[in-house]
Amino acid sequence: MLQLSRDTNLTKVRGYYDRGESRIGYRVLLGGTKHFGYYEPGASVWSMWRFKAAMRRMEDLLARRLALAPGSRVLDAGCGVGNVARALADRHGLDVTGIDILEFNLREASRRTARAGLGERTRFQRGDYHRLEFPDASFDGVYTMETFVHAADPEAALGEFYRVLKPGGRLVMFEYSRTPEEQVSAAANAALRRVCDEAAMPAWLRLYHGTLDEMLAGQAFHVERSVDVTANMMPMLRAFNLIGKFPYWCGRVTGLTYKVVNAMSAREMYKHPEVWRYGVHTAVRQ
Ligand SMILES: C[S@@+](CC[C@H](N)C(=O)[O-])C[C@H]1O[C@@H](n2cnc3c(N)ncnc32)[C@H](O)[C@@H]1O
Repeated sequence: MLQLSRDTNLTKVRGYYDRGESRIGYRVLLGGTKHFGYYEPGASVWSMWRFKAAMRRMEDLLARRLALAPGSRVLDAGCGVGNVARALADRHGLDVTGIDILEFNLREASRRTARAGLGERTRFQRGDYHRLEFPDASFDGVYTMETFVHAADPEAALGEFYRVLKPGGRLVMFEYSRTPEEQVSAAANAALRRVCDEAAMPAWLRLYHGTLDEMLAGQAFHVERSVDVTANMMPMLRAFNLIGKFPYWCGRVTGLTYKVVNAMSAREMYKHPEVWRYGVHTAVRQ
């Protein structure tokens, strides 16, 4: 298991997002957003390339799980360039504060918000979700969209989410989990370890299927529901797998795979679907 101090881990996370492949790849393919999309069963092979529409559907699912009235105060923990926060503000009337550890994400988030005229309903500031700088009971809702796997200390982060939520406040987490080592091949375990190490995701190695719900219950959250949506996001991973084939091959023949971590991750996780799942977890602060 990877055991890193919080600060060493934050440095690794910054390094992962700051590299050319991450910056250019996310911008070109997803307009800067960094989460998977949602596809209905039986979606056509052509629709898997319609990334933006699929990501909007995932964000609409987030809004439905938050189930908060317009004007409710929500924290986006790990907001990236703020596209999710703006979608919630614009399409669902929520008041969203985003935090992230990456200055360049935050600058871009503020620029896009000003351009969209959403400055009254979305704002962004530097922050680490392990130590939130908000008073107790500040928010009606908190969410994480594919960021909790980066946590060095998941229990501390969940404790912070609990603290800043009002009683009855809602937490929604879109996150990956893993299959126990003994249930999959050595190759699948090695692939997952490599992805977690190179993409700075130490928590993923600890988050077995069901573990996040146990951790939530351990923090006195009431777990309302947890749904496996792996099949619904798989078309986008299939597309990334095709896009990543050539860069990953180039990385391997030149010995520079560390420069194509996203291509490597897409290829390896597509090849080993038995080792991971993607879940949507909804919990209520008691
Ligand atoms: C996969 S991206 C998702 C970004 C955004 N949620 C989205 O869907 O576009 C993960 C984000 O979490 C941020 N992050 C990682 N660890 C964090 C921490 N401890 N506190 C705050 N943000 C963090 C990263 O900087 C990155 O922007």
